[in-house]
Amino acid sequence: NCFSLISNDLEIIKDNILGIINKYQQEFINIKADKDEIDTKDFFINVLKHSLEGNGKMIRPTFILYINRMLMERGHKIEKKKILNFCVSVELTHLASLIHDDIIDEANIRRGKDSCNHKFGNKIAVLLGDYLITEGTKLLFEAGIENIVCDSISLTQRLIRGEVNEIKNCYKKIGFNTYLNYISDKTAYFVGWIFKMTGVLMNCDKEYLEVLDMLGHHIGLVFQITDDILDYQGLENLTGKPVLNDLIKGIVTAPYIFAMEENPDLSSYLLFLEKHSIKKEELRKKLDKYDFN
Ligand code: FPP
Ligand code: MG
Repeated sequence: NCFSLISNDLEIIKDNILGIINKYQQEFINIKADKDEIDTKDFFINVLKHSLEGNGKMIRPTFILYINRMLMERGHKIEKKKILNFCVSVELTHLASLIHDDIIDEANIRRGKDSCNHKFGNKIAVLLGDYLITEGTKLLFEAGIENIVCDSISLTQRLIRGEVNEIKNCYKKIGFNTYLNYISDKTAYFVGWIFKMTGVLMNCDKEYLEVLDMLGHHIGLVFQITDDILDYQGLENLTGKPVLNDLIKGIVTAPYIFAMEENPDLSSYLLFLEKHSIKKEELRKKLDKYDFN
């Protein structure tokens, strides 16, 4: 099991995230909830807990912890606490981006549970994402790794650019390069960034940082392409995410791009999808006529 070497550290990271929630519990006592009948005292905290308790893979902290181990074996040093705090900050940014992404995608499940927007409404979900992203940035200062704050802000802006480009290209007949551009921004850049920043925090030289960045970036691309294939082929109870949600929202990803190349009528179907709201079963029937494998 590839997690066994780092499972203790992952537990510490999870506890840290829950600790942040508890520490700030008091701050949200006066937050006015969307629905009057909800007890406002614990409302925001319950929202936070709900979003964190899903079955997150913690893949980003996993990468950081393994790169940290690898670099330590090569003689690089860093205080353990700094690496763990970096992991927490990265996971908070990732969570924030997923919470906002589910609002944009109008997704109703995440990590096998009701998505935050579905359970608590868009207003609360936006605020939770905002809270987590600011908390993640603040932690970099508290952990004494403020030298990467500016990079961290650029990272968030890159994620935003990826999402904006994805939205701009909705229902459009795009090619593989356009797709690669936006998945580079919204996913691959993040993975490359955490590989590289682990190296920055451990004082690696420039050439080594470039290699780490490139390696992470390519893993990120593979990760997103796989995620996009699962949107067509996956099962909700396996992925914990809605299936066929991309195409129904007009997001054109790798499987559809390749299918369009062989079946030109699929590009005009995008115009149809834009004008009509169709049910997933109907969409599945249409797609079953083509070979998506
Ligand atoms: C998931 O894509 C989404 C992302 C990888 C990036 C989301 C970024 C933002 C919403 C920009 C704002 C960022 C912050 C930090 C507040 P997907 O929909 O393909 O993946 P999914 O299948 O997991 O939903
Ligand atoms: Mg999504």
